[in-house]
Amino acid sequence: MADFKDLRDYLGRLRAKLGDGAVQDLSGAHWDLEIGCLSELSAQRTGPALLFDDIPGSPSGFRVLTNYMGTVPACAVALGLEPDTPGIEIVRTWKERSRSLNLIPFVNVGAGPITQNVTEGDKVDLTRFPTPRWHEDDGGRYIGTACLVIVRDPDTGWINVGTYRGCVQGRDRLSLWMLKNHGRAIATKYWARGQACPVAVVVGCDPILATAAAMTAPEGVCEYDLAGALRGRPVEVLYPPGSQLPVPAHAEIVIEGEVASPEVEAVLEGPFGEWTGYYTHSGPEPFVRVKRIMHRNDPIILGCPPMIPTITPGDQAVPMYGASIAWEHLDRSGVENVTGVWAYGRQLMVVIAVKQTAPGQARRALETAAANPRNSGGMQRFFVVVDDDIDITDLEHVLWAICTRTRPVETINIIDSQTTIIDPRLAPDRRAAGDLSMGKVLIDACKPFDWIDQFPIQNRFRDDYRDEIRTRWSSRLPL
Ligand SMILES: Cc1cc2nc3c(=O)[nH]c(=O)nc-3n(C[C@H](O)[C@H](O)[C@H](O)COP(=O)(O)O)c2cc1C
Repeated sequence: MADFKDLRDYLGRLRAKLGDGAVQDLSGAHWDLEIGCLSELSAQRTGPALLFDDIPGSPSGFRVLTNYMGTVPACAVALGLEPDTPGIEIVRTWKERSRSLNLIPFVNVGAGPITQNVTEGDKVDLTRFPTPRWHEDDGGRYIGTACLVIVRDPDTGWINVGTYRGCVQGRDRLSLWMLKNHGRAIATKYWARGQACPVAVVVGCDPILATAAAMTAPEGVCEYDLAGALRGRPVEVLYPPGSQLPVPAHAEIVIEGEVASPEVEAVLEGPFGEWTGYYTHSGPEPFVRVKRIMHRNDPIILGCPPMIPTITPGDQAVPMYGASIAWEHLDRSGVENVTGVWAYGRQLMVVIAVKQTAPGQARRALETAAANPRNSGGMQRFFVVVDDDIDITDLEHVLWAICTRTRPVETINIIDSQTTIIDPRLAPDRRAAGDLSMGKVLIDACKPFDWIDQFPIQNRFRDDYRDEIRTRWSSRLPL
């Protein structure tokens, strides 16, 4: 289990487990595009976590962290696993721990470093923080990328935590882009009563908590408790004076205020370079009227700038938890002999490995995965099933299986399905009409079960012979 309670502990753990090079300190990069571009270039090389300080326009010590889970070993450390844990085992751990049965409720510890600096009323000033402008065509500076947006259901008291992009719109204004999710549904309840919705936005917390916030927990489940399950220890919170919204006691920055209905007041939000690899959405959206800002000494903004999916993202946990959700769904649906699930292009393509023991098994795995209602808002386009001799964490292997084990007229199928509003392939007129039909491709790239024993044998050396040759020759030839 992960024995750290906040972002700083996590950074210390990364350095201790993976060496000092796992976190690169960088001084003097500019908030306007330079931090964003450095993050992208470094992620492209699967580089270290980047901790930016001395950012022009902000006090020294006000920092930005990016690419904090940019490698598979860093994801392992975040979950408290050994750094050499294989990717599939990380996905399996994620799946096992996120089962709702193991939720660990958050605890109120009453005090914590988040209250080290508090400003209220006229004194609040979001522009003090070194919020990057991440991409060239972004419509503003987005402080909320890996943020937590906390709201409370006025009827049940359920505390919901979600991640919605947040743009600094002035000293005391933070716009939020809330799509059709639990957070929006709760805010709408306040708006229907003619009230503004109280909200707390956390910018900077440990990466597992940030990842849990973006997971689609069932209605009534608090993502803090899901994070507790993933980390193996409860999230420690406090209630700021006069607030019913618990915030992590060890958070870096907390922004509190109220969001009025967009019919009452709204600001222009977007566009923003999104995880699909394209800029999305610009239009009037609701915003937080900020009433109080709390931050730790020398606060760290946790930055998760979306990157084009052709680049290994600075946050590899997103595809991993996407894979774990697909795998959990297969388990729950009784699909047997799944040996692993992996995701590519963030989560746009899902690959399942099965050990075939019966006819129709592979097909069932495919159809079940494609029908999962929790699949990334519906934008997942390609579902692939392969045999368990394929290394699904290696795209070349997956492509080889697709190219040699499919019979396209029979084993590749297209089904109808709905996509999400941010899908770049939605035609403007269909988007305007709310027509989200798109479709999915189901690729069965397994050996045909009915003549599996006669399927040609692959011409790669056996692992034991490869190991033997490596041992004998590696002093003379790097192997
Ligand atoms: C980095 C990141 C950014 C996200 N940005 C947004 C966003 O701007 N708006 C949105 O509605 N969902 C966004 N999401 C997805 C939501 O966080 C996700 O659907 C979550 O489950 C919503 O939680 P809720 O249903 O509890 O409100 C983002 C997810 C991630 C990982």
